[in-house]
Amino acid sequence: MRFEIAKAMDSVRAAAGRAEADPTRPVYHFRPPAQWMNDPNGTIFHNGWYHVFYQHNPYGDAWGHMHWGHARSRDLVHWEHMPMALWPSREEGEAHCFSGCTAIDGGGRPVIFYTSIPTAEGPRQGAEQWAAVGDDELVVWEKHAGNPILSGEMHGGMEVLEWRDPFVFREGSRTFMVLGGKLEERDGGEAVVLVYEAEDEGLERWRYGGVLFRHADKGLRSIECPNFAKVGDRYVLMFSPYGPVEWYAGEFDADAVSFRVEERGRVDASGNYYATNVLYDGEGRCVLFGWVKGFEGGRGWNGCAGLPRVLSLRRDGRLGQEPAPEVEKLRGGSVRFPETELGNGEWVMDGVGGDTLEIAVEIEPQDARAFGLRVRRSADGARGVAIRWEAGSLDVAGVKAPLELDEQDKTLRLHVFVDKSVVEVFANGRECVTRVVYPEPQDLGVEVFAEDGGVVVKSVEVWEVVPIW
Ligand code: FRU
Repeated sequence: MRFEIAKAMDSVRAAAGRAEADPTRPVYHFRPPAQWMNDPNGTIFHNGWYHVFYQHNPYGDAWGHMHWGHARSRDLVHWEHMPMALWPSREEGEAHCFSGCTAIDGGGRPVIFYTSIPTAEGPRQGAEQWAAVGDDELVVWEKHAGNPILSGEMHGGMEVLEWRDPFVFREGSRTFMVLGGKLEERDGGEAVVLVYEAEDEGLERWRYGGVLFRHADKGLRSIECPNFAKVGDRYVLMFSPYGPVEWYAGEFDADAVSFRVEERGRVDASGNYYATNVLYDGEGRCVLFGWVKGFEGGRGWNGCAGLPRVLSLRRDGRLGQEPAPEVEKLRGGSVRFPETELGNGEWVMDGVGGDTLEIAVEIEPQDARAFGLRVRRSADGARGVAIRWEAGSLDVAGVKAPLELDEQDKTLRLHVFVDKSVVEVFANGRECVTRVVYPEPQDLGVEVFAEDGGVVVKSVEVWEVVPIW
């Protein structure tokens, strides 16, 4: 029913004026033309295009009526909105098209796998994993005639609750899928990542392979949006546990279908960042997308994606995250300051400011106890969004990430993106904190500060960022 797309897209268009008029809406983070978005879905690089699909409610600026929106880009930063890719097949008793992934099958055919949620009144019970088949351009999608592709019965009597968000990965010539869920067991249950293996090239027949990962927190409600990606010579499992996104790096044994964890951490310390997805591009980079959430309601839009992050495995075994270098294309005018010593106090950067900025700063503490950067600073300094390091921890507007400075060079390297109501912080190439903030519109200043001692500001550069929309 192409009619469904026309109706949904009309509704989005009708809300666009209101969304565009909102001065708090991000201008260089990816987002739909209007209305609600949550998880990035089915991220893939195919035939020279980056594709992002996303959980989308075309009919409102709150969660509901889950469709898959679609956009594509040549360069990871400028996006072209495409027709809606998936919408619920009401005639089949489907209420929502939940999150999932895009894979290319053995014959080169694009396939979306997603979680199909039934209507309350329909005959179906519980979630199933469905497929849709795409054309070469990944624009037109038809639901697979053989749906469901995976159903709960395949677990042989074991009940999996909140079973959702398929993610497909390849190891050698084999194709696997992970799904999140919860097993009802003693002690209130167990949040798990389950693994499946394709039995055919067309990815139509799957076999259950067991529990790949069990969460240590037995009180956890469930695991959402698992991604399992090879980064460097390790596998990294990332998922969303109804709180900050976690990563676990380790070894995947495809024969035993098991995962041995060696290191763990948080992808982003903040609850404003959730439901990630990854793609590998033509350069073999693993690029991460996430959903920036927690915006105020009732504005004709809600939700955007985090900047594309290039993942790496660092020598210390930690997950490295850097903004994709393509984001530099959006740099406008800039100011750069030479090395500056700052005693106890504030250095307000004269004539520098804005609400769409990129800031790169390197600060080496001398005897300061705490230090950092403040953006969206009010002229009198009474207000601002502080990014503050103290005693092995970085605090971004009240959310803390552990961050020990290197013994040798002791330097705090902040890469900060201010985009209206979003502040996305990369620290020392590994810790990220994304925040949704609502400063006063006139609060646009930038300052470096040092408390109870001095610092050396080794370098600082500030760019205006050019809107992509
Ligand atoms: C995560 C999530 C997924 C689900 C989707 C529904 O934000 O809850 O688990 O598939 O959103 O929109």
